[in-house]
Amino acid sequence: MISLENLKKRYGEVAAVDSVSLEIPSNTIYGIIGKSGAGKSTLVRLISLLERPDSGEILFSGKRVDNLTGDELIARRRRIGMIFQNFNLFSSRSAAGNIAYPLEIGGMPRKDIRRRVSDLLEHVGLEGRGDSPISTLSGGQKQRVAVARALAVNPDILFCDEATSALDPQTTRSILDLLKKLQRELSLSIVMITHQMEVVRDACELVAVLDEGRVVEEGRVTDIFARPKAAITREFLSHLNPMEDEDSLSLQAPEGLIRWSHEGGAYTIRFRGELTGEPVLSRLSKQFNIEFNIRAGGVQNVSGTPIGTMIADISGDEAEINRAIEYLSRQGVTVEKNI
Ligand SMILES: Nc1ncnc2c1ncn2[C@@H]1O[C@H](COP(=O)(O)OP(=O)(O)O)[C@@H](O)[C@H]1O
Ligand SMILES: [Mg+2]
Repeated sequence: MISLENLKKRYGEVAAVDSVSLEIPSNTIYGIIGKSGAGKSTLVRLISLLERPDSGEILFSGKRVDNLTGDELIARRRRIGMIFQNFNLFSSRSAAGNIAYPLEIGGMPRKDIRRRVSDLLEHVGLEGRGDSPISTLSGGQKQRVAVARALAVNPDILFCDEATSALDPQTTRSILDLLKKLQRELSLSIVMITHQMEVVRDACELVAVLDEGRVVEEGRVTDIFARPKAAITREFLSHLNPMEDEDSLSLQAPEGLIRWSHEGGAYTIRFRGELTGEPVLSRLSKQFNIEFNIRAGGVQNVSGTPIGTMIADISGDEAEINRAIEYLSRQGVTVEKNI
């Protein structure tokens, strides 16, 4: 468990991290989402002990770590793995040479290194590719090498800072699947920093939304998809790409895609889990004197929980519309008026 207590970090006039308090449980994939400049990378540098906060505390399993110095700090940092958008690999070394690097630094005997590297290559799906020069590997393969290198020293936490941002959607999916598999197999704690809601949807169990250095929303990913509270969270959701596998799309816009534009749809309606299959809306039209016109919609699979979203116009008497919206909210369906 990582606890952050009122962390602050300024660069001149910029409050890059502003009063952040969070609990990041062990043995899970925790997402931190925010736009460019929100303070994500700064927050990661603080939690991974690369920089010190101006004030506030960082605790790992209840033990304060932000004030460690000397050997204690070095030892603690060694138990933290990191991967980045641009891989940060040595182009002069082979795949195996990159993975071996932290083990060489740590003074592991050569023959143990060879065995460990071969295990790691297998873990990340690159068996037999150890001798490949880095320049001959694809983006996805490079990120696999970076993952293996980060895991070489058995860290208990892995930070992924925009690790899939330079990859195409299919490769992103395969790297997320790899990280999920490794999380389970090694009981790792993974902190996933991203500006992509797809990454949060497909990989994370919990998420914090960061805006201008502050946490504006946090909780279970399924809850946040079903009931986003902060305007910025809704904006992230409105830019979501549809699911790629066809059978998870229940409603399709004419283009064959979910239309996530707000044009012509005054309301966003969100359903959750078991409700998605229920004929709530048709019942609604019968009980209230209103008309529904669904403009776009679809179902997102969020860690196995279907979350339905529709963009619709509702026409009728205003008081009647409000009664209908209240009825929906009692059924666990949230309705937001789009601006
Ligand atoms: N080393 C630094 N010196 C000065 N300003 C910085 C530094 N690092 C980050 N910032 C500023 O802090 C804010 C947050 O940056 P960053 O943490 O990189 O955001 P993100 O990773 O979410 O894009 C930005 O306004 C950025 O310009
Ligand atoms: Mg960043």
